[in-house]
Amino acid sequence: MAVMVAFLNLIIMFSVVSTSKSLSLNYYSKTCPDVECIVAKAVKDATARDKTVPAALLRMHFHDCFVRGCDASVLLNSKGSNKAEKDGPPNVSLHAFYVIDAAKKALEASCPGVVSCADILALAARDAVFLSGGPTWDVPKGRKDGRTSKASETRQLPAPTFNLSQLRQSFSQRGLSGEDLVALSGGHTLGFSHCSSFKNRIHNFNATHDVDPSLNPSFATKLISICPLKNQAKNAGTSMDPSTTTFDNTYYRLILQQKGLFSSDQVLLDNPDTKNLVAKFATSKKAFYDAFAKSMIKMSSINGGQEVRKDCRVIN
Ligand code: HEM
Ligand SMILES: *[C@@H]1O[C@H](CO)[C@@H](O)[C@H](O)[C@H]1NC(C)=O
Ligand SMILES: *[C@@H]1O[C@H](CO)[C@@H](O)[C@H](O)[C@H]1NC(C)=O
Ligand SMILES: *[C@@H]1O[C@H](CO)[C@@H](O)[C@H](O)[C@H]1NC(C)=O
Repeated sequence: MAVMVAFLNLIIMFSVVSTSKSLSLNYYSKTCPDVECIVAKAVKDATARDKTVPAALLRMHFHDCFVRGCDASVLLNSKGSNKAEKDGPPNVSLHAFYVIDAAKKALEASCPGVVSCADILALAARDAVFLSGGPTWDVPKGRKDGRTSKASETRQLPAPTFNLSQLRQSFSQRGLSGEDLVALSGGHTLGFSHCSSFKNRIHNFNATHDVDPSLNPSFATKLISICPLKNQAKNAGTSMDPSTTTFDNTYYRLILQQKGLFSSDQVLLDNPDTKNLVAKFATSKKAFYDAFAKSMIKMSSINGGQEVRKDCRVIN
């Protein structure tokens, strides 16, 4: 079993290393010079109507890149007997697929068959962060769209119950470091979580503790009132960073106060090197922004696909 896992890790690492070098900043400069404006407009228009759009786009890009590389596999619809990623288990808050469709439609009108859905998603995630008051960065382009999407493969995504070594392993399998893990986890400065993603920490945690002792007690009490064991409201939950709706470094300050919402957030304190980074990002918004931008470029270079889809929801 261990040998097989090691072998699979090797394949994942090899595919990262073998394909990421083909991306470039000016990939569409001749074939679709307005690509960046067109995507930015679609994201801006949708965000003006629905404030939950940026968080959704950022998470969607992360899910895309962690399963089969950034190949827009997360956008494909289930077909026939094949259940696609978007119908797999951790899809509770995946939405805003329509924003990518709107950008694709506008791009097909100006430069048909040229821009991949995977590139649109990478650009949209960048624009989503910037529109939320966060940093911006240049996105290398030239990703290709994949032809496969399987619900069962969403098991490859890290879970909110993961401990630090599991998180590190999940990231290192994709060529991402401990610093990338801490920086990218800062994406949780945006967005909302359902009770199902953290209820293990506040009810029947383990044989000796009903509540996770790494939770700040008053924060735990608040979470229990939002997510009672019985009679829970259907869409109950909370923002991961309830203090602000902007993309800032409050997420790291909350972790230092034992108010990280998921175990996977709180465990970043479990080792001196990740803990020092949490402390650094909590103190310096600039250090966080620089690290986040750098790590996003790395994450969004995990490539995998082979075609440019005409419709982001179906293979050609
Ligand atoms: C480190 C491992 C990670 C774990 C275990 C994790 C887990 C989760 C969970 C459980 C949710 C809440 C889903 C729900 O209940 O509705 C969530 C939401 C979210 N995650 Fe992560 N995540 C991780 C990394 C990331 C990364 C790397 C990013 C982006 C850079 C990211 C961005 C987001 C965003 C923006 C949301 C909010 C989505 C929305 O409100 O629509 N996450 N994550
Ligand atoms: C999540 O998966 C379920 C089960 O397959 C499906 O019914 C639901 O539509 C999916 N949600 C989204 C947002 O795709
Ligand atoms: C993390 O979780 C894994 C899987 O449950 C376990 O084997 C490992 O011992 C845990 N590591 C730590 C440091 O708790
Ligand atoms: C429950 O979790 C706490 C904190 O992680 C730990 O100290 C304790 O040993 C755990 N109890 C059991 C029975 O695993």
